[in-house]
Amino acid sequence: MKIRIDKWISDSSEYSRKEVKNFFKYNKIKLNGEVVKKSGMIVDTDNDMVTLLEKEIIYEEKIYIMLNKPSGYISSAIVEGEKTIMELLDLKYQRRLFPIGRLDKDTEGLILLTNDGQYSHKLMHPNKKVSKIYYVEVDNDLEEKFVDIFSSGVDIGDYFTKPATLKIINETTCTLEIQEGKFHQVKRMFEAVGCEVIYLKRIQIGKLELDENLKNGEYRKLNQEETEKALIGD
Ligand code: URA
Repeated sequence: MKIRIDKWISDSSEYSRKEVKNFFKYNKIKLNGEVVKKSGMIVDTDNDMVTLLEKEIIYEEKIYIMLNKPSGYISSAIVEGEKTIMELLDLKYQRRLFPIGRLDKDTEGLILLTNDGQYSHKLMHPNKKVSKIYYVEVDNDLEEKFVDIFSSGVDIGDYFTKPATLKIINETTCTLEIQEGKFHQVKRMFEAVGCEVIYLKRIQIGKLELDENLKNGEYRKLNQEETEKALIGD
């Protein structure tokens, strides 16, 4: 791909376009081993090598990350006095990526981050009906009849939920699959049947499962096949 060299560097590092311009001024950028002066030079991401301060800058166009969110972190942008999931990322990602959707502060598990607005939009679009599967622990006995109740939909106050799939594991643990994401939806669905959620973890989006090798707070990049799996809806 042909691209301006300053865009290559700002897209693929933690430096802003302005900071990158300064590096050009001080001869800190090389193209195939030669100092480059012109920040607008057109280069080829497939064949050229760009270095900044003698370190190679690998071109990264679109980035998709899965993070195993720990409890205690909010999943939106910086809020004073709160820990945010962005702090868990490398500096080079913090400025560029945003989370796709949200999890509550006390919810754990799979959250995706990207710099690809179109991908995020697709995944969140209600028509796409992408499933999210949650592992849930509750404070009260789960009853078989909840399976039918959830599959018919429940009144959570301001909303009647669409069909959801409940799989009971034992008296107080289960998984719940929903294709929507209203505010506190899972917690409010269990509340509607007299249970309080005491632990909640998202384990799957579309057909993409949380990588069980990722400890709380750890993340890794997705490959193309995985990004497509997350988009699989009804
Ligand atoms: N439902 C909830 O209640 N909380 C979450 O974080 C996600 C889904």
